[in-house]
Amino acid sequence: MPEPSTRIRLAHIEPLTSGGSRLIYPDPERPGRLIKVVRQGSVRLKARFQVTRQLRELREYIRVFGKPDDKLICHLPAIAGLIATDLGFGLSVEAIRGADGRLAPTFSQLLRESRVKPHHQDLLATFFDRLLASSAIVGDLSRNNLVLGRDPNGNDFFALVDGLGDNTLIPMYALVPGRNRYRKREAAHRFMAALDAALDPSRRPTAVPSVPPRS
Ligand SMILES: Nc1ncnc2c1ncn2[C@@H]1O[C@H](COP(=O)(O)OP(=O)(O)OP(=O)(O)O)[C@@H](O)[C@H]1O
Ligand SMILES: [Mg+2]
Repeated sequence: MPEPSTRIRLAHIEPLTSGGSRLIYPDPERPGRLIKVVRQGSVRLKARFQVTRQLRELREYIRVFGKPDDKLICHLPAIAGLIATDLGFGLSVEAIRGADGRLAPTFSQLLRESRVKPHHQDLLATFFDRLLASSAIVGDLSRNNLVLGRDPNGNDFFALVDGLGDNTLIPMYALVPGRNRYRKREAAHRFMAALDAALDPSRRPTAVPSVPPRS
């Protein structure tokens, strides 16, 4: 670990947001970038967890980055690497911004706040087409890991800000590629159905009756 004086100081600032395992800070030295650090937990578990949590994402990003034909890269925030901070090693990533210039809204936020628009269907379809065409391993395709960004040309796009790499001790998706593809297809169906239902409430799936009707 570098000398304390060379570590970026984050402990004194408020994170912009957080997930279940990491705190998301603005990079005080590089505007436009974020630093993701693993939440402080048990000292014993911290070092090991921190390493695997950050490395699995970085490793998978590097793999996708090295494939010139893989268009999924257009839907991933650029990762610059690991960076020493006073909260441990953080992942230095591009901040994906929304139309209002703030951090891009997550897919769950769009649904919760009724902000979905018909053109999001095409954007989501493009994202999933590219995800399915890519060999990238995605262990966690949750609604909080997909955000709606706006690029410098004013075009909206969906970006996967977390979830790359196997998230289990035994790397099931890497060992069984069919399982990775199946999970991606299943996620595509789930996300598209949620978007369709938000745009047209009559398409909301009806609850399955717990008792089958008598014939
Ligand atoms: N590159 C990014 N650009 C914009 N927003 C981001 C970015 N990365 C993360 N976020 C926001 O921060 C939240 C938490 O980040 P992230 O999902 O990486 O944390 P986590 O703790 O690893 O998540 P999990 O709960 O899935 O383990 C995301 O849901 C998203 O709202
Ligand atoms: Mg997450």
